[in-house]
Amino acid sequence: MSTPILEGQGISKAYGGVQALYRVNIALYPGEILGLIGPNGSGKTTLFNALSRVIPVDEGRIFFRGQDVTDARPYQMARMGLARTFQVVRVYKKMSVLENMLISRSWRGVRAWNVLRPSRRETYQRAWELLEFFRIAHLAHMPAGALSGGQRRLLELAMASMPDPEVFLLDEAMSGINPALVEEIKERIQEMRQHQGKTFLMVEHNIQFISDLCDRVVVLHQGQVLAEGTPQEITENEAVIEAYLGV
Ligand SMILES: Nc1ncnc2c1ncn2[C@@H]1O[C@H](COP(=O)(O)OP(=O)(O)OP(=O)(O)O)[C@@H](O)[C@H]1O
Ligand SMILES: [Mg+2]
Repeated sequence: MSTPILEGQGISKAYGGVQALYRVNIALYPGEILGLIGPNGSGKTTLFNALSRVIPVDEGRIFFRGQDVTDARPYQMARMGLARTFQVVRVYKKMSVLENMLISRSWRGVRAWNVLRPSRRETYQRAWELLEFFRIAHLAHMPAGALSGGQRRLLELAMASMPDPEVFLLDEAMSGINPALVEEIKERIQEMRQHQGKTFLMVEHNIQFISDLCDRVVVLHQGQVLAEGTPQEITENEAVIEAYLGV
């Protein structure tokens, strides 16, 4: 296989007495869709926070696009091409869908990057293109708070796409949304991978969704990697069934 685009080596993180992660190794390869699954509290969000540099780690190193980014700040990760969505959707409910799109660059902390800052016209154009791509352009002038859960997830993906990142970390982007929109999101992700070469790491509890979409799956259990393999290998793995799928 090629060199990983994002890699965590020996990541440990404790919160007080809770060992949220213990010596976790994870590698994400360019153009792949990697699933991250595991029971509640197994460390999935903590691993996302570590990889996107939202929290400091106690131990281990993180590499992104060939650089050691262990000490990088989240905005530097964003600039280098990492996008991240959160388990609880973060949109500005009172602002319109379009306004949410327009502020999403500076929201990611790229505001200081004046020299390369795109013009207003370019930003508008990109926002509209993405709203169309995600099939929510008809909602552009609605307050984001009026959207359904699934539409908000689509908006969040569109916002994350504004700076044209290479890698997306999606934390339960599909939770609590209706099956039709799940299909819609699945198709958009496949398209982004196929036609734009984007790379995804996604946390999802729906194993069917993971099986349909992911090339590989990593299973976390009590802060450690329990198993790693193709969706089929994972769903047939005894230890995984016992720790997670069986419940
Ligand atoms: N900021 C924090 N302060 C204290 N403990 C934390 C913090 N964040 C996470 N933890 C603990 O670390 C462990 C891992 O939590 P984490 O949120 O990473 O799990 P998860 O796999 O994302 O769970 P879920 O499926 O419920 O989202 C849990 O025991 C959790 O209580
Ligand atoms: Mg979580």
